[in-house]
Amino acid sequence: MSAAHMGRAAALILATLLASSCVSVSVTVASKEARRYNFRFVRHARDAPAVSYYNYIVVGGGTAGCPLAATLSEHSRVLLLERGGLPYGNRNVSSEYHFADALADTSPLSPAQRFVSEDGVVNARARVLGGGSCLNAGFYTRASAGYVRAAGWDARLVNASYRWVERALVFRPGVPRWQRALHAGLLEAGVTPDNGYTLEHLPGTKIGGTIFDRRGRRHTAADFLRRAHPRRLTVFLHATVSRVLFRPGGKKKPVAYGVVFTDSVGGEHHVYLRGGGGGGKNEVILAAGTLGSPQLLMLSGVGPRVQLERHGIRTVHDHPGVGQGVADNPMNSVFVPSPVPVALSLVQVVGVTRFGSFIEGVSGSQFGIPLHGRAAASHAVARNFGMFSPMVRSRQLGTVPPRERTPEAMRRAAEVMRRLDPRAFRGGFILEKILGPLSTGHIELRSTDARANPAVTFNYFRDPRDVERCARGIQAMERVVRSPAFARFTYANHSAMDAAFRRGAAHFPVNLLPRHPGDTRPLQQYCRETVMTIWHYHGGCHVGGVVDQDYRVMGVRGLRVVDSSTFKYSPGTNPQATVMMLGRYMGLRILRERWIRKGAEDKH
Ligand SMILES: Cc1cc2nc3c(=O)[nH]c(=O)nc-3n(C[C@H](O)[C@H](O)[C@H](O)COP(=O)(O)OP(=O)(O)OC[C@H]3O[C@@H](n4cnc5c(N)ncnc54)[C@H](O)[C@@H]3O)c2cc1C
Ligand SMILES: *[C@@H]1O[C@H](CO)[C@@H](O)[C@H](O)[C@H]1NC(C)=O
Ligand SMILES: *[C@@H]1O[C@H](CO)[C@@H](O)[C@H](O)[C@H]1NC(C)=O
Ligand SMILES: *[C@@H]1O[C@H](CO)[C@@H](O)[C@H](O)[C@H]1NC(C)=O
Repeated sequence: MSAAHMGRAAALILATLLASSCVSVSVTVASKEARRYNFRFVRHARDAPAVSYYNYIVVGGGTAGCPLAATLSEHSRVLLLERGGLPYGNRNVSSEYHFADALADTSPLSPAQRFVSEDGVVNARARVLGGGSCLNAGFYTRASAGYVRAAGWDARLVNASYRWVERALVFRPGVPRWQRALHAGLLEAGVTPDNGYTLEHLPGTKIGGTIFDRRGRRHTAADFLRRAHPRRLTVFLHATVSRVLFRPGGKKKPVAYGVVFTDSVGGEHHVYLRGGGGGGKNEVILAAGTLGSPQLLMLSGVGPRVQLERHGIRTVHDHPGVGQGVADNPMNSVFVPSPVPVALSLVQVVGVTRFGSFIEGVSGSQFGIPLHGRAAASHAVARNFGMFSPMVRSRQLGTVPPRERTPEAMRRAAEVMRRLDPRAFRGGFILEKILGPLSTGHIELRSTDARANPAVTFNYFRDPRDVERCARGIQAMERVVRSPAFARFTYANHSAMDAAFRRGAAHFPVNLLPRHPGDTRPLQQYCRETVMTIWHYHGGCHVGGVVDQDYRVMGVRGLRVVDSSTFKYSPGTNPQATVMMLGRYMGLRILRERWIRKGAEDKH
């Protein structure tokens, strides 16, 4: 099978299989969990007072915001404001089997808010306590030592912070056969050495950690709040922050002294820093994510003046870097149909190549899922052909170039897939993400409504070095598929696959078959045309551009940003470990600064 064929054979989205392999995990499990973690300090924003005062106001209860707020509450009064609701009691969040459902749910209460970048790629951002850790594929892996050095972080504190995170919610996965074959296949494809199970970022192939436990239950960043001081932390849910308040600093820089947020029924609430802010002690900290943090800065008057004026926002500080240097690592995948049933797995194994491509895989099928019998299997088949997979509903379909992924194209795809032999859905996706990336874009306001998505442009593959990394990754994926280790999960030849899927296959938009044996579509073109997101977008508030080494927003006082928007490159192979670590790490550093300063004052 040539790379080009495999290319053509590719790219359903991950979600297909995962969705078709849906098992219903009982709701009682979820609600038990909800009871267990029903923190008394978590309230609905409707019940918030019109005015209140805190030492720290953390905006965004996401992957970085939760560990940050929990840590700060050890010694100070902290308010955490999150626009979404609780992650507990919702199986779309709690269960591994429902990974794709949350992404497909476009209702206003969905934990995932869909956005389509200006590039035409469908994407999603979190809107729930716990943030992206409530939606993600769970893979957990640290940043490299080189990344930590380049970031200028204190390596010992980084290690201690990673360990704190890992004690709370990281598990060693039970690796099913398909993932084991991927592991062995990567080694045979030359992605060596074998690093076994490790959380370290090392060249070669390894098994990483996961935030799903062995029962497929998701543990999220919201769980860090169990470590919070219950009387010093307040969390308001369904609280959408519309702006940060600034006081003119006179000869000095403007000072952040509070925020305004709106509850779900439109009530406006003001929160102020104790002591009026500006003393360098009490602070507002944005942890609203790659889209949310630059957006909020701009809505508050901190950003490129021209843009602010376009929306009638008064400029507090003209800051051209805000919203610049945003990037999303492209994901390209190949669907590998399997002659045998395949168990469900999200990402567990990664091949870290030496040419900047990270190779992972997800598997599943409507058969062969543990914990359910024949009846459940036939139910899953019915579901597969009845309501069809969220892949189509979520428009994450990488078989047509981004700009052609219209609702109408998705409807046609769904129609054709419905006619397909169920065996065509057995198998898995091998996917790659490239290092970096080097191609970057920007975020701009579309409106002054904090609930609306800003306009995001990623410029996937604009830098030719990104394209070359992708192309080499596809070649490596091809070697994996052809490796003896992976043979059990591939059809030996195309006529066999053809015979198996004949029904409807000729119309199959995903094109599992090499219909044009002479096709020489270059890998580079394949990379561009099948680009999807792996949801690792970052940037917009770069260290050195928007915030300084201490994550303070330059040009103003009393305001920091701590989340994925501060990254220039995506850390490790997958970022969540480092996002969580950064929340803990900065929490400790901020407390330490406060304590040192207080200690110094006490002496005088
Ligand atoms: C589908 C998916 C799969 C992924 N898979 C993996 C994976 O397997 N492994 C991995 O390591 N990483 C994965 N990631 C990436 C990882 O989850 C993210 O990088 C990480 O969650 C980003 O964290 P953050 O704190 O920057 O933002 P978020 O976690 O998104 O937090 C931002 C929070 O701020 C809130 N917010 C935003 N604006 C406002 C406002 N105005 N007022 C109040 N609140 C606001 C949001 O609701 C959100 O809760 C995945 C992500 C997704 C979406
Ligand atoms: C889960 O997702 C599905 C499909 O997207 C949606 O129809 C359903 O309402 C969601 N369930 C919950 C509890 O939110
Ligand atoms: C941090 O942990 C890594 C990986 O375990 C190790 O290589 C490194 O030496 C540690 N650094 C410090 C300063 O402890
Ligand atoms: C390919 O598959 C067909 C159909 O199953 C089979 O008849 C044929 O022997 C196979 N050829 C090879 C080379 O394996």
